[in-house]
Amino acid sequence: GKTIVITGASSGIGADTARLLRLQGARVIGVDRNDPMLTLDGFVKADLSDVAGIDAAMKQLPQKIDALCNIAGVPGTAPADLVARVNYLGLRHLVERASDRMGEGGSIVNISSILGAEWPQRLEQHKALAETAGFAAGQAWLAKNPVPQESCYQYFKEALIVWSITQSQQLFLSRGVRMNCVAPGPVFTPILGDFVQMLGQERVEKDAHRMKRPAFSDEVAPVIAFLCGDASRWVSGINLPVDGGLASTYL
Ligand code: NAI
Repeated sequence: GKTIVITGASSGIGADTARLLRLQGARVIGVDRNDPMLTLDGFVKADLSDVAGIDAAMKQLPQKIDALCNIAGVPGTAPADLVARVNYLGLRHLVERASDRMGEGGSIVNISSILGAEWPQRLEQHKALAETAGFAAGQAWLAKNPVPQESCYQYFKEALIVWSITQSQQLFLSRGVRMNCVAPGPVFTPILGDFVQMLGQERVEKDAHRMKRPAFSDEVAPVIAFLCGDASRWVSGINLPVDGGLASTYL
């Protein structure tokens, strides 16, 4: 089976993805700041919010990695600086490090969000940020172009989508490694309540009403697993919504 590294494997969408991929025969190594509550083939306890934590995790991860699922993330109720570091800058750094251990047929799946859907409105900004080389350079760019707390979650999900799409070209052509995003709508996980705080009861209820309910995390996991596996070997550089059609109701 494949060796698959999953960040955020200790909770929510990451835990369900880990469970499913193990059932499908993969060897799953979790990375999270919290201990897992499920059986994994390996686990690295790490703080993915800075370079030191990520580099320390890399030392404990396998030398050959077939797929990487970047599922760890914090909601917009966390300080904007932490949202930037975990959801974007740290993710980029981990991809840079881990992709060195991946070869032809490798796959990277990043979890964006339906809340990142408005990336075309800020494409030039997100492209400029995407072009910064490395964690520190990204932080320096953000110091000059600060992101307000209220919109930081949306902003860094948009930035993640733009970086993933642009970066995927080079990864695929140079290494044969695919990179894609999965964009969930609301999902029943421990951070669902944070979205009510971020967006307000009214917006969340309106969205929930449109789709009748949030997703269950085991409705998102199979899509992540598909993008990890060989069945999607000609799919690269996409952002795939898994929202029960919620985005279509915005038209
Ligand atoms: P969750 O809170 O259940 O899981 C997130 C995991 O990431 C936790 O196990 C947490 O310990 C880990 N994590 C957070 N910061 C970390 C750090 N600095 N170092 C190491 N691990 C860290 O949340 P959920 O809902 O499963 O979220 C997974 C991803 O899905 C996130 O990127 C989130 O933004 C995204 N998402 C969630 C939606 C929802 O409605 N729940 C909707 C759209 C996207």
